[in-house]
Amino acid sequence: MYAQMVKTDPRSAEITPEEEAFQARLDADVKIEPKDWMPEGYRKTLVRQISQHAHSEIVGQLPEANWISRAPTLERKAILIAKVQDEAGHGLYLYCAAETLGVSREQLLDQLHTGKAKYSSIFNYPTLTWADVGAIGWLVDGAAIMNQVPLQRCSYGPYSRAMIRICKEESFHQRQGFDIMAKLAAGTAEQKAMAQDALNRWWWPSLMMFGPPDADSVHSAQSMAWKIKLNSNDELRQRFVDQTVPQARHLGLEIPDPDLRWNEERGHYDFGAIDWDEFYRVIAGQGPCNKERLDTRVKAHEDGAWYREGLQAHAAKKAERRRKAAA
Ligand code: 3HC
Repeated sequence: MYAQMVKTDPRSAEITPEEEAFQARLDADVKIEPKDWMPEGYRKTLVRQISQHAHSEIVGQLPEANWISRAPTLERKAILIAKVQDEAGHGLYLYCAAETLGVSREQLLDQLHTGKAKYSSIFNYPTLTWADVGAIGWLVDGAAIMNQVPLQRCSYGPYSRAMIRICKEESFHQRQGFDIMAKLAAGTAEQKAMAQDALNRWWWPSLMMFGPPDADSVHSAQSMAWKIKLNSNDELRQRFVDQTVPQARHLGLEIPDPDLRWNEERGHYDFGAIDWDEFYRVIAGQGPCNKERLDTRVKAHEDGAWYREGLQAHAAKKAERRRKAAA
């Protein structure tokens, strides 16, 4: 196990007592807490992953928010508002978890706004019809649940606890999306065609959410040695396909993959090649909506500056009054 650890001081051959104690805690599934010693690489990996996860939650609100004012019924509008609000809360839990590692909210948001930090590729696609709101709940939140459930057991305490809370709400997100798709698929021919069109556009980008193939994943080996990542990208992607294909069949919709077939020997679905050029284009900022998403986030941050400044001025005044009273 030690061989997998990134040495804190690569020059030293032996394992330091801190590294030994750290690894022993990981091996015993004892959570690492903010005040515990941790290798700098472990801390950096957590800041990278948790902050990008938080960015994904916040940016992920935008595609669906586009449909709040156009939801087909008051009930659907209320459900969608609740879901989008949940995502904001998920982002806040995760930013707080990242801040326990010694980074500030300002630093994290600056990394997002300047394009230095990523957010999930999936949120760079447009939501063209109401069926997209269903496909996002069913497929995107379905994929997010597949990827997030194992994170409830990750080695870093604040991240694991945030994920327990988030996963409870994700199930509602996925269910409401599936329910939209079921209503459309059982509706008029036009409604069913709208659902099929959404599945056609969201299926492959949803598979890309799990990250590059294991062979190309730069972080997986170390993240798995540190029990930050509990399952590989390909393993979770395969689980998602195996779970979702029967759901699509139940809806009477076609998965847009001519190579999809059940492989009795493997006990899994074989599926077609993913367009990794598209994936790397999107995460490099050349997706259909990257610029629009980032511009919207930057504008929202700038438009909210007066409110943050007001809160900070109020807090400073209160602290000043408390200091004078204590003097
Ligand atoms: N979108 C954007 N970037 C991605 C990506 C994706 N779907 N998949 C991988 N990448 C990036 C990685 O961030 C890494 O780039 P970096 O070094 O600049 O950070 C690079 O591609 C190599 O990928 P790796 O597989 O080596 O990286 P990881 O080990 O970090 O695995 C991950 C990627 C599986 C996404 C992992 O980071 C993870 O599990 N993150 C936490 C969960 C998460 O963020 N889920 C996605 C969205 S949350 C959501 O959908 C909200 C829901 O409410 C709708």
